[in-house]
Amino acid sequence: MMVGPDGAIEVGADQRLALMAAAWAAAARAYVPYSSFPVGAAVLTADGSVVAGCNVENASYGLTCCAERTAVFTAVAAGHRTILAVAVTAPAATRASPCGACRQVLREFVGPAGMLVLQDGAEGVEETTLATLLPDSFGPGDLGA
Ligand code: THU
Repeated sequence: MMVGPDGAIEVGADQRLALMAAAWAAAARAYVPYSSFPVGAAVLTADGSVVAGCNVENASYGLTCCAERTAVFTAVAAGHRTILAVAVTAPAATRASPCGACRQVLREFVGPAGMLVLQDGAEGVEETTLATLLPDSFGPGDLGA
């Protein structure tokens, strides 16, 4: 990972592949007896660690945790506080994109260089940023943190 001259994050091709591979592996571990809609996510942290998560459903449906939030919370629990990039895959869908709730949870841990979002799909991996997916966002700074 590098920060380019314009301040944007530059995540290398090898890291993008590793991130997406981790998301794929996590999707295979999704617990989805109700939706049969597995999702895998993986986050790249400031020190280069890759932390994955899958969706975990519950018989009380509303308690389900999305793959992206599982990945973020697992990373934070392991001591990471800055997420540089996130990869998402949903093998049953044409394209994966984080839900609104997960966009806000990802927003909490965005670094000064922003966050790259890799969205897997039938036509390949689409690259975007969290700022594109969640413009004019509310974050820690709004509470003085
Ligand atoms: N899901 C995710 O894991 N991430 C998303 O961004 C969208 C939705 C999960 C939640 C539920 O287990 C299943 O996909 C269907 O909504």
